[in-house]
Amino acid sequence: MSVEAALATKRLVRIEVNGVVHEREIEVRRSLGDFLREDLDLTGTHFGCEHGVCGACTVQVDGQAVRSCIMLAVQADNRCVKTIEGMANPDGSLHPIQQAFWDHKGQQCGFCTGGMVLATEDFLRRNPSPTREEVREAMSGNICRCTGYQFIVDSILAAAEALRSALEGASGADVREEDHAGR
Ligand code: FES
Ligand code: FES
Repeated sequence: MSVEAALATKRLVRIEVNGVVHEREIEVRRSLGDFLREDLDLTGTHFGCEHGVCGACTVQVDGQAVRSCIMLAVQADNRCVKTIEGMANPDGSLHPIQQAFWDHKGQQCGFCTGGMVLATEDFLRRNPSPTREEVREAMSGNICRCTGYQFIVDSILAAAEALRSALEGASGADVREEDHAGR
């Protein structure tokens, strides 16, 4: 890297956010959360502590849950970011995780909920059939000041069940299609 490049305070980045590519010149010290909230106006990403403790600012980068207050936006260059605004289904209906939080009263004020939902999706991808204890452990880095957590755990277990059912339904449909094509 040249001396000029090393001393540059701005850098051109290309970041895909919720399926839309953004090419911007940004300050190298800008956090990903500030980039999302202030540059892209995606204010569903919330800031609580702003030092990596509360989980309210959780988004996904290439499918992995990260804390956007302590990640630099330039670290997301050429990567795909997902925020709570990108969570709903293409027809606008709620994603099964959002629906489960709604159905099981997993949110009250909603301040922590976006981060909870994005962390949940990453967790359930890695562990589709968690125990109650595993959910508690996985979500221990996401702080909620309202719910007392019981309803959040209920919501995540219900979401896991809904996602498993959807997956089984989809693979059943594939088998039926294959049978049909083989006839
Ligand atoms: S605002 Fe990022 S972890 Fe609290
Ligand atoms: S619902 Fe209010 S902080 Fe979690």
